[in-house]
Order: sequence, then C-alpha cells, then structure tokens
Amino acid sequence: MAGGPPHILDGFALQGRVALITGSTRGLGLCMARALAQCGARVLINGRREDVVQATVTQLREEGLAADPLVFDVADDAARDAAFCAIDADVGRLDILVNNVGARHRARLRDIDLGAIRALIDTDLIAGIALSKLAAERMRKHGWGRLIAVTSIVGELARDGDAVYPAAKQGLTGLMRALATEYATFGITSNAIAPGTFATEANAQMVADPAIGPQIAARNPLRRWGEPHEIAAAAVFLASPAASYVNGHVLVVDGGLSVQF
Ligand SMILES: NC(=O)c1ccc[n+]([C@@H]2O[C@H](COP(=O)([O-])OP(=O)(O)OC[C@H]3O[C@@H](n4cnc5c(N)ncnc54)[C@H](OP(=O)(O)O)[C@@H]3O)[C@@H](O)[C@H]2O)c1
Repeated sequence: MAGGPPHILDGFALQGRVALITGSTRGLGLCMARALAQCGARVLINGRREDVVQATVTQLREEGLAADPLVFDVADDAARDAAFCAIDADVGRLDILVNNVGARHRARLRDIDLGAIRALIDTDLIAGIALSKLAAERMRKHGWGRLIAVTSIVGELARDGDAVYPAAKQGLTGLMRALATEYATFGITSNAIAPGTFATEANAQMVADPAIGPQIAARNPLRRWGEPHEIAAAAVFLASPAASYVNGHVLVVDGGLSVQF
C-alpha cells in the first residue's frame, strides 16, 4: 500500500552501517558478524591472528558479504587505540559495536592468583569499557549507535569453581545499564546479550565429553546445547533500527536454562 506504514522488516536493514564485532573469527562472534553483514552492514572482523582474521574476511566476502579485517588484541590499550585510528582513517564511521571477546579461566578464588585475575578482568571487563568509550565517541558524531556487550547467564547464576569470570560479566552488564542512561540522548542504545551454553569451538571438549556434554544438554528445557547461529538474531535485533526503544536490556539467549526451577 503506497504511503502506508513502514514494513516491519525494513527496520532490520543495516545498509550503510559499519559494525565492529570483537572476536569474530569463530564461535558466536562469527555468527553475529555474518548475520549483521547479511542484513547489509559492513562488518569489521577482529581477532589476534592476522592470517585467521584474513581467512574469515575472505570466507565472508565469498558469501557476498561486506567484511574487512581489524586485527588487534582487545586487552592491549595501545592496539585498541590504534585500531580505532584505523577505523577513522580507513572507514570513517562506526555504528555498531558488539563487544564479544570473553576469556575464560574456570577457577575458585583461592586457586587463582592476582596476576591471572587481573588478566581476566583486563580482557573481559576493562577492554569492554574502553572499547565502548572509543565507539560511543564515534557514534555520537552521527547521532546513532548501538553498543552491545556479550555477557553470560553466568553472573546472574553462579557455580563453585568459577569466581572471576562471573564478576567480569556482571560488570559488563552494569556498564551497559549505565551507558543506556548516559548515551540515550545521543541516539545510542546500550544492551547486552547473555548466552547460555553454546556448542562453540571453545566448548567443543565439554560437548564431546560423555560425562559433561549430555548432562548440560539434559539440564536445559530444550534438552540440547545452543547452536552458535542461534545467537545471531539477538544481535541483529539489538543492532537494528527496529530496536530503537530497547535500551539497557539484557537479552538472555539460553533455551530457558536460567528460568528453570
Ligand atoms: N560459548 C558459550 O556457550 C558462551 C556462553 C556464555 C557466554 N559466552 C560469551 O560469548 C562470547 C563468545 O564466546 P565463544 O564461545 O564464541 O568464544 P570463542 O570461540 O572463544 O571465540 C573467541 C574469538 O575471540 C577472539 N579473541 C580471543 N581473545 C581475543 C583478544 N584478546 N583480542 C581479540 N580477539 C580475541 C578469537 O580469535 P583469536 O584467538 O585468534 O584471537 C576468536 O575470534 C564470549 O564473551 C563468551 O564469554 C559464550
């Protein structure tokens, strides 16, 4: 109908948007990057290894998607700053940040030393804070932006033997809520995606372990692990113009694991 209301699917188009997805050479990051690119965004693929990042970019381009490499270690202050200088020089804008990198170090507090604690907090929390700051400054210039942090249901939920990662992830959740209040008037929304248990490469050993894999699947209301691609729609939604009034939200994608009593 000419002149009628806009079609709902138009709100999911990301043409003209540039998205940086940290840690996007495999796992959830790659699935989110591919999905954002399929919706029209130009995606900046990140990881620490140049050859792996380049191979991912090549793969996405072969799928007809717009992808460019951005190699840097999110935990390295100077490398982060340099990466954003490169975005300014080579791309000229950043509309969407998916802060996806998250290192894991399962240990009790009494079994982890301060150096390892700091390293984990550097990668899982400080990097997310610093990247959000760098990204938001660019987004402000265009009056539009999407800050998305990949957190975890771990943090809301806890387990003996895993002390610091939950603290970092809860820190990120708090950050996104705070940024939701700070940047909303600049057209920037801030939200989190909290995954449950996904069968990514990082979890391959657990999935394959007959003592662990089936047990984790059985605890889930859906009786299975999440497939990595099942995270993608959450990222597309939160990154999209359609989610313009969703701000400060934590979108749990866990098959119902965290609501089961
Ligand atoms: N998988 C799950 O079930 C699950 C559940 C809850 C939350 N999460 C969260 O979801 C996110 C993604 O998980 P995933 O399982 O997909 O992770 P993953 O398979 O371990 O993916 C890691 C990605 O991050 C890159 N990377 C790692 N450290 C980096 C660094 N310091 N700087 C830049 N890139 C780095 C890796 O490339 P290089 O190693 O080559 O640098 C790779 O591209 C994490 O934040 C994780 O905590 C996952």
